[in-house]
Amino acid sequence: MKILGRVALLGAIATLGMTATSALLAHGDVTPQAVDTSALPEIGDTWLEKNPYSGNAKAIEIGQSAYGQNCARCHGLDAESGGIAPDLRYLEAGESGDQWFAERFRHGSSHDGKVYMPPFGDVLGQKAGWAIRAWLETKHEG
Ligand code: HEC
Repeated sequence: MKILGRVALLGAIATLGMTATSALLAHGDVTPQAVDTSALPEIGDTWLEKNPYSGNAKAIEIGQSAYGQNCARCHGLDAESGGIAPDLRYLEAGESGDQWFAERFRHGSSHDGKVYMPPFGDVLGQKAGWAIRAWLETKHEG
């Protein structure tokens, strides 16, 4: 009976392990979570070169939650990367940082036929993108 119990336990552990692995492999496919940006000033559809919400408290609040739902699983909780993806606290500040941020947010990153980061521009939209950037600015480290 004792041995049988142990076998069952090992089986359970193996199953758990497999579930964790498939969750990891599914990383890139997780559906983006919609972000309610209705409280933020309208900025049109054409992508801007510079974050219009920089320092905007409401945008920072929305950006924090949008980041948690869409980016943290790769870039780490509270923007502290565990190593899977770049640590966004070190993203360049100012306008050239804004442009690089927008480039990655909109188009993601793929090479050699593999998706490293999915594109978010069309699904979440420009307002959500800049809100996330506004929050990231509060976490910036040189
Ligand atoms: C599936 C994992 C994944 C998710 C989800 C993800 N990213 Fe990324 N991101 C990456 C990887 C991997 C890279 C590095 C890509 C490369 O260098 O080719 C990256 C790169 C970036 C960069 C450029 C960083 C640099 O130092 O060059 C920015 C900015 C960025 N991501 C923002 C975001 C934002 C904002 C979100 C959420 C809306 C997000 N990412 C969601 C994996 C992810």
